[in-house]
Amino acid sequence: MSDKYLDLVSGGLPAALAKKLGLPRPARLRRTDPSSVDVPLAPGPVLVLSDPRSMGDADAVAEGLLDWDVDVRRDARLGEHGRWGGVVVVLTRLAHPAELSEPALALGSVLRQLAPGARVVTLSRPAPPAGQDGDPAVAAARQGVDGFLRSLAKELRAGATANGLVLGDGVGVAAPSVRGGLRFLLSARSAFVDGQLLAVGTDGGHPPADWARPLAGSVAVVTGAARGIGAAVARVLARDGAQVVGVDVPAAGESLAAVMNEVHGTALQLDITAPDAAERILAVARARYGHLDIVVHNAGILRDKLLANMTPDRFDGLLAVNVTAPLRMNETFAVPGTLGGPGTSPRIISLASTSGIAGNRGQTNYATAKAGIIGMTRSLAPALAQAGGTVNAVAPGFIETDMTATIPPLPRQISRRSSSLQQGGQPVDVAEAIAFLASPQAGGINGQVLRVCGQLLVGQ
Ligand code: NAI
Repeated sequence: MSDKYLDLVSGGLPAALAKKLGLPRPARLRRTDPSSVDVPLAPGPVLVLSDPRSMGDADAVAEGLLDWDVDVRRDARLGEHGRWGGVVVVLTRLAHPAELSEPALALGSVLRQLAPGARVVTLSRPAPPAGQDGDPAVAAARQGVDGFLRSLAKELRAGATANGLVLGDGVGVAAPSVRGGLRFLLSARSAFVDGQLLAVGTDGGHPPADWARPLAGSVAVVTGAARGIGAAVARVLARDGAQVVGVDVPAAGESLAAVMNEVHGTALQLDITAPDAAERILAVARARYGHLDIVVHNAGILRDKLLANMTPDRFDGLLAVNVTAPLRMNETFAVPGTLGGPGTSPRIISLASTSGIAGNRGQTNYATAKAGIIGMTRSLAPALAQAGGTVNAVAPGFIETDMTATIPPLPRQISRRSSSLQQGGQPVDVAEAIAFLASPQAGGINGQVLRVCGQLLVGQ
C-alpha cells in the first residue's frame, strides 16, 4: 500500500507548503530492503555518552561498537558539517534523577546535528516493582529514564528514533542480548520502532556466527504467510538464513505458493483453527528439514463492529483465529523438546497489536484477542526459558497492508499520522523486529512485547 501524502510532501513546493502550514511532514525512513542486509550500521559516527557513574560501562559499550567498525566518538564536538549517525546514552548506574542532567544536556546539544534516520539508544536499569523495598532516589532515577526517552522520541525529526534497552540487575552491558539489541536499535532494521523500552532480563543468548545470516540452520513456521506482514516475515527470516514453512488457508493457496517459491520454502495449506494444526506443522517441518525452531503466530483477521452491533460469528470467529488457535498450538509447541534442533533454541513470536494495549473503538473482539496474546506470552515465558528458548510478542501499530486498506479513508489517514513518525509502517518493519527476536542474540529477551508502531500516540 502506498502513502500518497508522504510521496507528495517528500520534496519541492508541496514540502515547503506543508512546512508553512504546519502540516505533518513524514520523512522517508531509513529501512532495510528485505532482499539485502543493512550496511553500514549507522548513517554516521556514533557518540557514546553517560552519566558520571556509568563511565566504565560506557567505555565497554564504545569498545563493543568498535568491534563492528562503527566510527565511535566520546566527545560531543563534531566538525561543523558532520552529522551523527547515532547517540548511545549509558545510564546503567544512575542513582538520582539529577544525575541525568549532564548526559541529557550533552545529548540535547547534538540533536540538531543528527543525520536523517539517526538513532538514539539509552541503556538503563528497571525501576523496582511496586512494593519492593529500595532506595526511592534510585527508583526515581530509573523510572525517570522512561519519561525522558518517550518525550525525546516525540521531539526527533527526519526519521530519527529514540529507544532504550532496560538491563535487568546483574545483566552487563556486554551481555549478548544487550549487544544484539543495541545493534538492532542502531540499524535500519528498527526503522518503525520508536519510543520503546525493551527489557533484557538475562545474559542468555549468544552472538551469531555470521551477523548477516543469524538464523542459518534454523527452521521457522510463519502462519498467514500468503500476504502482508506474514509474507514479509517469511522473506526476512529467509534472508537471515532460516528455512521457512509458510502456512495459510487453502483459499490463499496461490499467493502462498508464490511467496514460498520466492524464499525456497515449503507451502502448507492449513486453517490454523484445525484442532491438529500444530501436529501437522511439526510433521511437515520435521519431514522436510528434520526439526522446527521458530514459530511465528501471525495469521489474524479483523471483524470490526461496535459492541452494540456485535454478532456471535464476528466475536467468536475472530477469537477462534486470533487467540484460541495460537493458544491451542502452543500446548504442543511449548512442551520442552518439541522446538529446537542442533545448535538452535526454541522461539515463539506472536502478533499482538497496539489495539490490545490501548483499546480501539469498534474492536472489542480484536483487542480482547490481542491483549490475550500478550497475557499468553507473559504466562508462557517461564516454560520457554525452561526449554532453553524464549516467547515474545510484537505489537504493530498502523501497518500498510491489505488488512488496513479496508479501513475507510478518513480514519485511515488519521491513524497514519497519529504517530511520532507521522506515517504507517511497512510489513518489513514488523518482520525485522520478529527476525531480531527469533535470533540467537535475543536469547536474553523473554516474555516481552515490542511495539513496532512509530510511537503511536495512543496508549503511550
Ligand atoms: P492480512 O489480512 O494482510 O494477512 C493475514 C493472513 O492470515 C492472510 O493471508 C490470511 O489468509 C491469513 N489467515 C487468516 N485466517 C487464517 C486461518 N484461520 N488460518 C491460516 N491463515 C489465516 O493481515 P496483516 O495486516 O498482514 O496482519 C498480520 C498480523 O498482524 C495479524 O495477526 C494482525 O492482527 C496483526 N496486526 C496487523 C496490523 C496492521 O496494521 N496491518 C496492526 C497490528 C497487528
